[in-house]
Amino acid sequence: MSQIEAAKSDQVREGALYTASVGGKPVALTRVGGTVQAFVNKCPHLGMALTRGKVEGGAVTCPFHGSKFDICSGRNLDWVKSFLGLPLPVWAQGALAMGKKPAGLKTLPASEKDGAVFIEIS
Ligand code: FES
Repeated sequence: MSQIEAAKSDQVREGALYTASVGGKPVALTRVGGTVQAFVNKCPHLGMALTRGKVEGGAVTCPFHGSKFDICSGRNLDWVKSFLGLPLPVWAQGALAMGKKPAGLKTLPASEKDGAVFIEIS
């Protein structure tokens, strides 16, 4: 496992996602309660990037189909609730899930030192 610089500290802000390719992995960074958090920038539903996702209250919502995740733990909070921001009826949610069961984000250990953010990648 190695620590790799992913961003400068001032690039990572509360309520927003900073995205980068780190060690060949798509990574998203944000702050929750001031602490840097990192996760693999791929929605577990269809693998789309969460780059334009809404970040609020310690959670990120996928811009494509509305799945929602706790940023600190990666835990799934909502699964396939909308299509490009438009709410879906329950029957359509199941169809759009395409047989994929709810799953969480892959979180990554993150730390800060000397004005930079580091993540651990195995
Ligand atoms: S790709 Fe994110 S919810 Fe479908």
